[in-house]
Parts: sequence; structure tokens; C-alpha cells
Amino acid sequence: MQQTVINSPECILLAGARGGLGTALCGELVKRFPDAVLLTISRSGLDRLSVTHQHLCASLEDEGAVKTVRDWLREQPIPNWVIDCCGILHWRDHSPEKNLQQCSDEALLQSISVNVLTHLHLAQALAPLLLKRSPLVWASLSAKVGSIEDNQLGGWYSYRMSKAALNMLVRNLSIEWSRRVENCCVVAIHPGTTDTPLSKPFQSNIPDGKLYSPALSAQRIVSVLAQLQSGDNGKLLFWDGSPIPW
Ligand SMILES: NC(=O)c1ccc[n+]([C@@H]2O[C@H](COP(=O)([O-])OP(=O)(O)OC[C@H]3O[C@@H](n4cnc5c(N)ncnc54)[C@H](OP(=O)(O)O)[C@@H]3O)[C@@H](O)[C@H]2O)c1
Repeated sequence: MQQTVINSPECILLAGARGGLGTALCGELVKRFPDAVLLTISRSGLDRLSVTHQHLCASLEDEGAVKTVRDWLREQPIPNWVIDCCGILHWRDHSPEKNLQQCSDEALLQSISVNVLTHLHLAQALAPLLLKRSPLVWASLSAKVGSIEDNQLGGWYSYRMSKAALNMLVRNLSIEWSRRVENCCVVAIHPGTTDTPLSKPFQSNIPDGKLYSPALSAQRIVSVLAQLQSGDNGKLLFWDGSPIPW
């Protein structure tokens, strides 16, 4: 019978702590695991969330952040849950593309920078600190629209391409780290459409009851993580824990 990997983490690392889901996840984690050490990373500062909370200001898009984050992590307990919330869909000069003509190198590169590099750099910072006998859950917040098989609508080129690339990063990491860490589960999670700045411009077409509050999505994500089993390693999961095809 399979067992959960870590249902009650002692140290949690969360990146992208100032976003809509990052903020809600921090609140949920402090509530559910008040004794766990909470380590957060964001491009901006964050007030102390609990007595065990430590925060680092760093921009994970930059390669230089790998060393900064690693040096900081060396002074902390080894995290056994890691949640990376970083992601981008739109910004001042960019709305998701409806067709090929609207694609630009600049938008694609910026999407890859935030949707992929922020996760790659966090993994690179953590990798040398992992121990064979220290269980690990890694969750990258990804998106269902990054699933190639699930794509029946088209559009949103930069977001879809960069999330598909993130999904491949997660899959690779799940293979590499399961060889190094005895009890390891690396997954990508689709949080469901959540009321945050990322989804704001696209909320008018969402069917009733399908736009979730950040607090509800955070509860669901934490519940999925607490129930992960080693057999879930390398999966893309829906917010209820069911698998989505890559
Ligand atoms: N909301 C949804 O409906 C929805 C649906 C599917 C998937 N997701 C995914 O869920 C994750 C969280 O999204 P959210 O809804 O919470 O969006 P959000 O409120 O816009 O937060 C975006 C996050 O990305 C980080 N970020 C943005 N630009 C960055 C940059 N240039 N460099 C580094 N980090 C950057 C922010 O971190 P800091 O500001 O803390 O540095 C923040 O955590 C994303 O990966 C998103 O793709 C969301």
C-alpha cells in the first residue's frame, strides 16, 4: 500500500509569496501547520507571518538568484514542501494572443522567463541541499492550458507554450530527484480559475461558480499536497488531485 509522502511538513518554502495565490497559500499554511518553519521568497518585502517565518527578497527570473537563494537556504532547515507560485499571463503591453499574428518574440521570452526560469532557478538553488533520506514534495503552480493533449481551443500562445515547458521541467525534475531522494514527489498543479490579478481581465466569461476565491484554491492545493503519494511523482494534477494529461 502506498503512503503519503509528507502530510505534515516541518519546513515549507514558498516562492511568489506576494501574488494572489501565494498570499492565500501563506495564510492557509500558517493556519494548518502553525509549528512548521515557513520560508518565503518574493520580489518584494513581506511582513512577518508567524514566529517561524523567514522572508527573502529575490527575483527568481534572474540567474543570479540561484546563488542568493541557495546561500539563504543553507541557513534554514531543509524544506520538505516547496511550492512555486510564480507565473505570468498578461502585463502592461501584453494580452494573451488570439492568433499567430499577435505573437511576438518579446512576449514569448518574457513568458518563459517568469513561467519557467523562476521554477528552474528555485530548483537549482535547492538541488545541492537535498538529502537522500529527507522526504520532499515539490509543487509548481502550472495551468491546465499548458497541457498539450487538453488543448482544444488554441490561442494564448505564449502562456500555453511556456506552461508546457514548465510541465516538462517538472516531469524531468521528478525523474532526476526520485533517483536522489528516497521519498520524493514532484508535481505540477492546476489551481483552478482563481480570483487574482492574473485572471482579472478574463473573468467575464467564466461560468457561475467556476471562479474560486484565493482562500478556497489555497485550501484545495494544500489538501492535495498533504495527500500526495509517491506514485503521484511526475504528474500534472487538478486542484482536486485528479491527473490531467500532459
Ligand atoms: N489565477 C488563476 O486563475 C490561475 C489559473 C491557472 C494557473 N494559475 C497559476 O497560478 C500561479 C499563481 O498565479 P496568481 O493567480 O496568484 O497570479 P498573480 O496574483 O498575478 O501572482 C503572480 C505570481 O508570479 C510572481 N511573478 C510575477 N511576475 C514575476 C516576475 N517578473 N518575476 C518573478 N516572479 C514573478 C509573483 O511573485 P512576487 O510578486 O511575490 O514576486 C506572484 O507570485 C501562476 O503560476 C499562474 O500561472 C493561476
